[in-house]
Amino acid sequence: MDIMPAVQDACVSGQWLTAIILSLCCFLPSCLPAGQTVDYLTDEIVTSRQGDTALLRCYLLDGISKGAWLNRSSIIFAGNDKWSVDPRVSIVSSVGDKHEYSLQIQKVDVSDDGQYTCSIQSERSPRPKLLKLIVKVPPKIYDISSDVTVNEGSNVSLICTASGKPEPTISWRHITPLAKKYDNGEYLNITGITRDQAGEYECSALNDIASPDTKTVKVTVNFPPSIHEMKSHGVGLGRTALLRCEAAAVPSPIFEWYKGEKRVTKGQGIDIKNLSSRSVLTVTNMTEDRYGNYTCVATNKLGTDNASVPLIPIIEPTTTNAVSSPAPNTAPYGSTGSAHILLACRYLVLALSSFISVY
Ligand SMILES: *[C@@H]1O[C@H](CO)[C@@H](O)[C@H](O)[C@H]1NC(C)=O
Ligand SMILES: *[C@@H]1O[C@H](CO)[C@@H](O)[C@H](O)[C@H]1NC(C)=O
Ligand SMILES: *[C@@H]1O[C@H](CO)[C@@H](O)[C@H](O)[C@H]1NC(C)=O
Ligand SMILES: *[C@@H]1O[C@H](CO)[C@@H](O)[C@H](O)[C@H]1NC(C)=O
Ligand SMILES: *[C@@H]1O[C@H](CO)[C@@H](O)[C@H](O)[C@H]1NC(C)=O
Ligand SMILES: *[C@@H]1O[C@H](CO)[C@@H](O)[C@H](O)[C@H]1NC(C)=O
Ligand SMILES: *[C@@H]1O[C@H](CO)[C@@H](O)[C@H](O)[C@H]1NC(C)=O
Repeated sequence: MDIMPAVQDACVSGQWLTAIILSLCCFLPSCLPAGQTVDYLTDEIVTSRQGDTALLRCYLLDGISKGAWLNRSSIIFAGNDKWSVDPRVSIVSSVGDKHEYSLQIQKVDVSDDGQYTCSIQSERSPRPKLLKLIVKVPPKIYDISSDVTVNEGSNVSLICTASGKPEPTISWRHITPLAKKYDNGEYLNITGITRDQAGEYECSALNDIASPDTKTVKVTVNFPPSIHEMKSHGVGLGRTALLRCEAAAVPSPIFEWYKGEKRVTKGQGIDIKNLSSRSVLTVTNMTEDRYGNYTCVATNKLGTDNASVPLIPIIEPTTTNAVSSPAPNTAPYGSTGSAHILLACRYLVLALSSFISVY
């Protein structure tokens, strides 16, 4: 007794399915003239992000009609019978004023992209609803040049490749306060690179669905040393003298000091401190034999530069108010004659001013 309705059901469903499939034919891409797209037939475009759950909505309008879902030309659901073996697909149904018969696809992927059809068999036989599922993929940089070290003047070519859907736009920028932008594209080609162009370059891949993916490449530009500062101050006997030598170079230079032709090394009141771009020579307790011409030599694997400066004596002022002048052109050692004259002048001025103030 229970068998009859089931058989009847099967027969009915067989009939309506045939009807649906026949009526569908005209809407399927294979039935269309070659080269013609089905876009103009699409009733709804559903956009989903890769990995998300997509919901393709369809309504039966009444409780009697039946529906079917197709992925391109293959049946996913016929009524509530699942034809597809894909565990990610299911029917979302609800009974309200409209009878929902929506298709849910979990963890959508790019392969799910395409045309879906919700076909409805009813008295009024409305035409099938055609939906287009667009699966978008966030941008992802999958390859970027590794950090490079080049000599100044070289040609540098950096590459950055990314995937995503829609195809991401790739842009490069030099990470400096100015943040120079370059033309969009996978390649960043720099001809004759200069030292100012050293640093980090950021590749950014952007499409319309997520924040950009970024990665950076470090470009090191080697160049030979050039000494841009070499300083000394005149110094009195017994005082501390400082000689400072600053050089720009990549890689960092090795500094050497000479006095005349003779190499100067640490020890016996001389200290040498090297930083990456600077060397400071200190003479504690200046003695006469240490006055003279000092040369700083900065060397790296690309070259060398040198600069010289004289270390000269100055006359120690006898009072703190005395005019102190490093006097390279006057007799180098000792004569304090001019200081005495200056002092005499000061007393005269003081005496005069007190005389004037009485009256
Ligand atoms: C739709 O069909 C394509 C191949 O035609 C398949 O790769 C994809 O998994 C199908 N998606 C669903 C949700 O059935
Ligand atoms: C760098 O590129 C310029 C211009 O494309 C070319 O003339 C030059 O020969 C290249 N230099 C090197 C070292 O490859
Ligand atoms: C950049 O260099 C690469 C290879 O070195 C080359 O294939 C590409 O065409 C160059 N691009 C531009 C815009 O010059
Ligand atoms: C600094 O340079 C001097 C001079 O060549 C050298 O003797 C010394 O070892 C260097 N010191 C450091 C800390 O690199
Ligand atoms: C400086 O050197 C002189 C002469 O060598 C010596 O007499 C004096 O004691 C030294 N002064 C100091 C502070 O080291
Ligand atoms: C200092 O030494 C350098 C190099 O040895 C030389 O070129 C320069 O003329 C000297 N300067 C003086 C003032 O002696
Ligand atoms: C300093 O540089 C000059 C040329 O630039 C060179 O002739 C000289 O030998 C150098 N001096 C030292 C001590 O390296």
